[in-house]
Amino acid sequence: MPKTRTANGPRRFPSSRTALTRRSLLGGAAALAATIGPSRVARAAAPVPFGAAIQSNFFDSDPAYAQVFLDRCDLVLPMNELKFPMLRPTRESFEFGPADRLVDWARSNGKTSRGHTFVWHDGNPAWLERIRDPIEAEMVLREHIQRTAGHFRGRLESWDVVNEVIAHEPRESGGPLRDTWWLRTLGPRHIPIAFAEAARADPGARLVVNDYDLEFRGARYDARRRVMLDLVRQLQDGGLRVDAVGIQGHLYSHFEIDPEAMARFGRDLKTLGVGLLATEIDVIDFQVPGGPEEIDRAAEKVVGDFLDGLFAGQRPEAVITWGLTDRYSWVGDVMPRTDGQPVRPLPLDADLVPKRWYELLRRRLAQA
Ligand code: G3I
Repeated sequence: MPKTRTANGPRRFPSSRTALTRRSLLGGAAALAATIGPSRVARAAAPVPFGAAIQSNFFDSDPAYAQVFLDRCDLVLPMNELKFPMLRPTRESFEFGPADRLVDWARSNGKTSRGHTFVWHDGNPAWLERIRDPIEAEMVLREHIQRTAGHFRGRLESWDVVNEVIAHEPRESGGPLRDTWWLRTLGPRHIPIAFAEAARADPGARLVVNDYDLEFRGARYDARRRVMLDLVRQLQDGGLRVDAVGIQGHLYSHFEIDPEAMARFGRDLKTLGVGLLATEIDVIDFQVPGGPEEIDRAAEKVVGDFLDGLFAGQRPEAVITWGLTDRYSWVGDVMPRTDGQPVRPLPLDADLVPKRWYELLRRRLAQA
């Protein structure tokens, strides 16, 4: 989530003198069985697929909302229904119903879908974070992925295997990985464990490591891009398949995108044989003065710069927004405008009318 800082104390990591070695990030996690991944379907001529995250909360109460995903998207994914809070309210339960419904509805309407996410730090149920024994935590993690990825086997194009595992601000004192319950209980090896289990449970799904703040100009973002590349290399060194990196794309429209840095990042991933997706695009406009016209103009600029950087690195496998209409978005709940105007984070407004940046995005995907 692109706003919180790690609240916990510093963790011992290699000093700045010993640059982050290719082993240190994952603590030398044991190499696990390598797997042969799904080949990336050649899409030389077809446009880059456009997708959006949908919420089951509004699926029944707002039929026009559901319909607009069918009208506008190639891919539709459950926003929250595959995360621990909704999927695993208790240790014994796997509440697959809401996600099954969304995924099967999308697929029966000719759309593809994807999974988000096995491992995250936000909102984990109390029963999970009460676990202190690493052996028990590992068992829970492996079972969670085996059962969940197994249940959806063959129905999802890809999974965000882990989400936001990079430190909000990687520094030699705080270390490269985010200080989460997963890290404190299992250590860095929770990441290769998750990738190994996902590869086994659904060999046909592409495996993605997803994170935020990988697109802006500045030292913190450079550091996060560096850590992401190191993480991918170390997973590969451990014999694990990493098919793609997800750049979330929560775009603060008062920040500056670094298209050149994004392009280098995409090219470096391509050199590693790793693809790229934009997974959660929306625009955070609380610092942009003016009315809807000014807000949308700033959004069009930041989205355009983001897409320039994304495509300059490599052709993305998909471009996905985090919701589709201003009617429903986390942004207004978490970062509301101080002037009382509603936020305008998504490609369609609250009346389901496309904004200019939606048209810009679709044109760019069609040119790819
Ligand atoms: O399902 C319950 C419902 O039963 C209850 O009545 C209601 C009121 O408390 O809460 C509902 O759960 C909410 C859930 O969204 C579904 O609507 C949670 O409280 C709420 O915290 C949750 O927020 C989601 C958030 O992740 C935390 O999971 C946002 O919708 C979602 O947009 C946001 O998405 C994250 C990505 O997963 C990762 N990247 C950052 C992004 C934005 O934070």
